[in-house]
Amino acid sequence: MKKILITGALGQIGSELTMRLRKEYGENNVISSSRSAKDGSDEIVKSGPFEIIDVTNINHIANAVKKHNVDTIIHLAAILSAVGEAKTNLAWDVNMGGLYNVLEVGRETGAAIFTPSSIAAFGPSTPAKNTPQDTIQRPKTMYGVTKVAGEILCDYYYERFGVDTRGVRFPGLISYKTLPGGGTTDYAVDIYYKAIEDGKFTCPLGEDTYMDMMYMPDALDAIINLAQADPSKLKHRNAFNVTAMSFSPEDIFASIKKFMPDFTMSYDVNPTLQKIANSWPDSLDDSAAREEWGWNPKYDLDAMSKDMLEKLKVKLGK
Ligand code: NAD
Ligand code: SER
Repeated sequence: MKKILITGALGQIGSELTMRLRKEYGENNVISSSRSAKDGSDEIVKSGPFEIIDVTNINHIANAVKKHNVDTIIHLAAILSAVGEAKTNLAWDVNMGGLYNVLEVGRETGAAIFTPSSIAAFGPSTPAKNTPQDTIQRPKTMYGVTKVAGEILCDYYYERFGVDTRGVRFPGLISYKTLPGGGTTDYAVDIYYKAIEDGKFTCPLGEDTYMDMMYMPDALDAIINLAQADPSKLKHRNAFNVTAMSFSPEDIFASIKKFMPDFTMSYDVNPTLQKIANSWPDSLDDSAAREEWGWNPKYDLDAMSKDMLEKLKVKLGK
């Protein structure tokens, strides 16, 4: 990785990954992009090169790759699960069309491609506990359909055309810098904001809903460590299960209460989100990532709660 292009760079992951990579690789070697400069903070747009790239337009991607001599594309532009269920056409166009365009540019220019998949690539017929790396994948959301198709497409571009494609199946990501973009796991971010702003939270998922989760610093490590990994060690290139913790709303509530004893929570279950969450694994087996490229997350639930609450209090001026 010498010259890196990030698509969807103003989103939850991209806004933090861009700044981390600019620190490690040099400001001018990390090109951030989004379909509009107004989608996010000025910091990403002004701290290094920025390009307007709508990923559904292959020329936008190809021109930026050639202009900046890009050797690695980290493709983050996507429509997430909850928005994807409301706007299925958009989810298909952006998630499949965008990925196809990025892969084609990789094939033409030799750029390596990193694309996150998701726990959404699994479905209700997948074993829910300790979900294996290689297992049944029959997702029931448009987002999940695009994610499992994307995993297969990335494998195809590697095997057929030799494009260096890599990726992980991220669980729900928790962070304080940029709000999540409309997913089913967003409650696990929202709960920290509401704890600080209101001292109470209404949870849209039922108390026994377990899903895998991860704090953003570990997610950034996953992207960078896999992108830098020795390719000869990678058997699963495009869809490594990665996780840091599995918890229910009751567990995260109890963790926040350790730091904010007066915090309260009630439930008002959203049936659409609940159906999606029920179709995803309770906990993943991430042993392939640990064995093939040394995956080893640092944050558990309480360490994350402590850091989230400290950082959010500063951000929200509380
Ligand atoms: P996000 O929604 O926060 O950011 C995505 C960005 O893509 C947004 O800024 C959006 O404006 C942009 N975008 C949408 N359509 C576009 C288009 N046509 N052209 C260019 N940009 C466009 O998402 P994120 O959380 O940063 O996710 C990045 C990737 O990681 C996605 O592939 C997502 O599926 C995956 N992922 C995220 C999570 C999570 O919890 N955040 C979990 C699993 C997988
Ligand atoms: N956090 C994402 C979502 O809920 C998982 O891919 O959509």
